[in-house]
This record gives sequence, C-alpha cells and structure tokens, in this order.
Amino acid sequence: MAAAASLSINDADQVLRPPTDGLEYLRQDQAAELTAEPGSVHAHNGRIGGFERAEDAGLQIDGRGCAVIPGLVDCHTHLPFAGWREREYALKISGASYESIARGGGGIRSSAHALVNATDAEVLGQASALTNEMLAHGTTLFECKSGYGLSREGELRAISLAAKLAQHAEQPLRSTALLAHAVPEGYDADGWMDAVEAMLPDVLAGGEVSALDIYVESVAFSNEHLKRMGALAAKHRLDLRAHVEQFNTNRSVPVAVEAGARSVDHLACLPAEHVALLASAQTAAVLLPGAEFLGAERVAPARELADAGAICVVATDLNPGTSPVLSLPLIIGLAVRRYRWSVLEALLACTLNAAWVLRRSRDTGSLELGKRADLVVLDEPIERIPYRFGHNPVAFVFIAGRLVHARMDCRWRLTT
Ligand code: NIG
Ligand code: FE
Repeated sequence: MAAAASLSINDADQVLRPPTDGLEYLRQDQAAELTAEPGSVHAHNGRIGGFERAEDAGLQIDGRGCAVIPGLVDCHTHLPFAGWREREYALKISGASYESIARGGGGIRSSAHALVNATDAEVLGQASALTNEMLAHGTTLFECKSGYGLSREGELRAISLAAKLAQHAEQPLRSTALLAHAVPEGYDADGWMDAVEAMLPDVLAGGEVSALDIYVESVAFSNEHLKRMGALAAKHRLDLRAHVEQFNTNRSVPVAVEAGARSVDHLACLPAEHVALLASAQTAAVLLPGAEFLGAERVAPARELADAGAICVVATDLNPGTSPVLSLPLIIGLAVRRYRWSVLEALLACTLNAAWVLRRSRDTGSLELGKRADLVVLDEPIERIPYRFGHNPVAFVFIAGRLVHARMDCRWRLTT
C-alpha cells in the first residue's frame, strides 16, 4: 500500500503516550500513568517525528473521533502451523480435558501430524493469511514458535518456515524455538532433552532464533527439564520462555525466575505465594486469556499480579489447539472483563511490555519521538475496545511509517 515518506495524523481525540520516554517496560501498577490526551502525531522516514500536525507531510489523516495507539505486539503465537482442530473443541465442550485429548493422540501430536503432511506452500499460505488478518486487527510485530515439528528435521523445518514467513509478512517477527513441547514418539522426556541439546547448534545456525521455550506439564516436561532448558538458553545467549502453570500447579515460576527467564506464560494455576516473586523479578507474566476462556481453564491471578507490580503482558497464544484467536482487540476485551483490568492496563500489556518480552521495546511499543512509526489508528476511543467486544476498531495501521492497512469505510480520512 501507499508508501509516503511522511505522514501526519491530525487532531485525534486520544494519543496514547507513556509517562516518560525511554522506558523499556512499565510495571503494571503504574499503568494509570499512561496518558490518552487529544493531539496529533507525525512521522518522517519511518520514525515518529513529533506530536503536532505536520502540514507538509505527504499523507494526512483526519483523526477527529479517533485514537492513536502504538502498533500492537503479539509476543506469544504458535505460527506457523497446519490446519485447525475444531473436533477437539467440540470434545472439550462436551467435557473432555486437554490432557485426555492429548493422551488419546490428539492435541499437539495431531498438529505435528498435520504439519508433516502439509507442503511448505500450504503452511505458508495459511500463515500468511493469518498474518494479514492480524495486521487488520492492529498487530505490527509478533512472535513465531516452532514446537509442532516433534523431530529434529521437523523442528528445523518449522524454524525455516518461520524465516520464510518473515519474508512474506508485512510485520517483523521474532522466532522462538519451542523445542520441548510434547515428548515425541520413541523418546522419554530425558531422552528428548538430550536430542534437543544435540540439535541446538543446527537450530541456531541460521541466526533467526532468539529464544528457547518449553512446556512444563504432566503430559509434557518437568521443572528439571525447565532448569536444563534454562542452562541451554544461557549457554547459547538466548532468552528463556516457558509455558507454565496452565492446567495444573507445578510450582515452576521460582525455577524459571532462577534460570533468568524472560517470561513465564499462561499462569492460570499460579499459586498465590508466587505473585510477589513476579512482582520483584525481571521476568514478564504473559497471560493468555483466549486459551483460558476457550479451554474453560482457571483464570490467572491477573488483578493480583497487576496490583503487585509485575511486568504484565497479554497475547493471543494463536494456535490450533487451545486458542485459535488472532485478535488482540478481542484479547483486550477478555483481559478487561475477566482480569478486571483497566483499558490502559490491557493496552500496556500488548504494547510496550509485550515488545520488551521480544527485546524490541527500545524501538517500538510506545509513541515516542524517534521510535519506529508503528502506529494504529482506531476510529473510536480506547475505552470502546473492550466494550464493543468482538468488534474490530482498527481503521489504519502503519509499520515503520508505511501505511499497510486502511479500512475501506475510513479511507475518506486520508489525503495525499
Ligand atoms: O500454549 N500448552 C501448550 N502449548 C499450546 C497449545 C498447543 C496445542 O494444543 O496445539 C498453548 O496452549
Ligand atoms: Fe502457547
């Protein structure tokens, strides 16, 4: 779409700004310090140039009645994957547990089967369609995870598919190697961790992977394996991410924090006594309310984490099993309703703090002079995002100052 060297979004009702420039993240008990005052935003050569009108900018947007927010950051998705698993959803609705479905050969294994039987073109076709839809919902940076490979070759292929997706997608992405997702056929968990260690040089050879991830659960890996994955991450100077406390309490957070994890993700079953630990740690609490809602999981102690001052994040967890959801506006709606968060808290959690998880918050995630012009224009006030649950309020999306999405009914606002 139109590439203008400069743009000016004029007279918006709200411009979401951080309390000060230069913050890499903001603990959630300070979210009320974000401001959403009337104003304008302009950008030149891909960077935010200031917060007044720029009459000479090549692209002008009438921002009256609109809100300008930073591009949304989805720091936890399982893209790319093959197909969907709607039959399992029906089973869950009739009462089957995630674990019983997994033990019966469904779950992660069935997506691994679908992936191995799909061509690269099929996988990339599905993933590209999803990233376009994410763009229309305001996502300007996202994470990919491997994890449906379940073999050395499969994991290497998943990582190379993420690298190919990076060439197709409008958004920049970050690649995580979720090498311990389910225990592959023919291995026990210890044996698979040996295989993970042995494959790491090849996994990292292309230089795309920035984090390692592991799923700690009775049907998957243990805290001992988490510790081992932490040591591997440290050895290879990668971030550690971890799926923990999703369906059961395994007391994994102290282990992850001790290992220097960048984030602990899910936390629906986080014990109350670990809230304070996250409040003082430099480890983000990545909460996934879509998976919680659709899986009738417990609800993470999100209000408590926020009040205690944890680095709180929300993401879609987009995957074919627990969360076939790609809309961050919908996730904001769930976070506000189910976590009793303010809209400022929910927005902080999928902008600056989510960018911090991906080590991109120096460059994006908040509206500051000099940051990359990743901008989303809503044609409504921010308070309506959670209220009009399921509605997409995104009118325009810019990545590095380039207009990459314009909703048809809002094009009258554009002048070139
Ligand atoms: O984040 N819990 C583990 N991993 C994914 C689900 C993967 C799947 O069911 O395909 C999650 O919920
Ligand atoms: Fe996940």
